[in-house]
Amino acid sequence: MESMSIELEQNEIVPKTDEFAIETINLSKVFGKENQIRAVDNLNLQIRKGEVFGFVGPNGAGKTTTMKMLIGLLEPSEGSGKVAGFDIVREVINIRVTTGVLPEPAGFYDNLTARQNLRFYAKLYDIKPDVREKRIVNLLETVDLTRAIDQKTGGFSTGMRKRFGLAQALINEPSVLFLDEPTSGIDPLGAQMMRDLIKDLNRSKGVTVFLSSHSMEEVEDICDRIAIIARGKLLAVGSVEDLRDIVRAKEGVHYLLEFQDIPISEAAEAVNNVEGVQALEIQNGTLHVHAKMKLRPEIAKAVKTAGGTVSMFEEEEMNLQKLFLKIIEGV
Ligand SMILES: Nc1ncnc2c1ncn2[C@@H]1O[C@H](COP(=O)(O)OP(=O)(O)OP(=O)(O)O)[C@@H](O)[C@H]1O
Ligand SMILES: [Mg+2]
Repeated sequence: MESMSIELEQNEIVPKTDEFAIETINLSKVFGKENQIRAVDNLNLQIRKGEVFGFVGPNGAGKTTTMKMLIGLLEPSEGSGKVAGFDIVREVINIRVTTGVLPEPAGFYDNLTARQNLRFYAKLYDIKPDVREKRIVNLLETVDLTRAIDQKTGGFSTGMRKRFGLAQALINEPSVLFLDEPTSGIDPLGAQMMRDLIKDLNRSKGVTVFLSSHSMEEVEDICDRIAIIARGKLLAVGSVEDLRDIVRAKEGVHYLLEFQDIPISEAAEAVNNVEGVQALEIQNGTLHVHAKMKLRPEIAKAVKTAGGTVSMFEEEEMNLQKLFLKIIEGV
């Protein structure tokens, strides 16, 4: 990350009481003169205070560009945004004071030790020496780098660098945390530790987290809401269940059913007469039903009326990975 100098006293910053931790209005970034790329195209996002918000999309979707605009490293071409109530163009210094950033890739002064690096960043924020030294020790303990406190960061492994990057992002006790691919390139155990740290920061300190990731499993695990972006455009936003509803509206719903007290062929006939049922198939004693929309009560009622009992009624599982692929299909 680019180094910065902050002249303001930390206690001069009065957090504004806006409803959202992060908000963008038609935020856009255009790169290039002749062959222009709209890296971010009319993005409207509203991230609530205290949310863990996931930002996902294929390579080149515009995730990092968006983050850079939100933290004042890139000026928007069009539109506007606010972070912690501060304008992303006019109040960048205030944003730096109230936010923490883990960039991808994270850059440190690799000829300095972990402690010296954190001291350097703490000085930028004017943190008093006694507070600073304690915080450095605590942060490195939090990210499990106590033993590496006096080692040069140049020798750190990928996992150590990510964890150290998180410690650095937390040096100013931010209220909003930007994490660009916080677990990319690290082993499963390290990734789990990072996820637990993020969850814990959110729960215990109420930190709002805006993170990008290519791991759908991770995003499903730790994020309250998710935005899917491709080619600079926002395709969908919401909880995993909201995204399921979006895909259901587009693709319909797939149910699996088993019955008692009725031959499966008769049950199938009854289900087939339910309005909105589009296709049926019997496979190894299970009825597969494709419906235009959610029809659980209607299907159950039809089977009951025909004298049968539903012994198994499941919806085909749509995890975030599947939802993501459906939502970006054809973009
Ligand atoms: N400084 C730049 N100059 C020109 N084009 C750029 C610049 N930075 C990014 N781009 C382009 O903007 C688009 C979005 O890039 P960005 O890095 O924001 O994507 P991303 O979603 O973070 O991708 P990834 O998942 O690979 O990190 C890409 O087409 C990229 O080539
Ligand atoms: Mg990126």
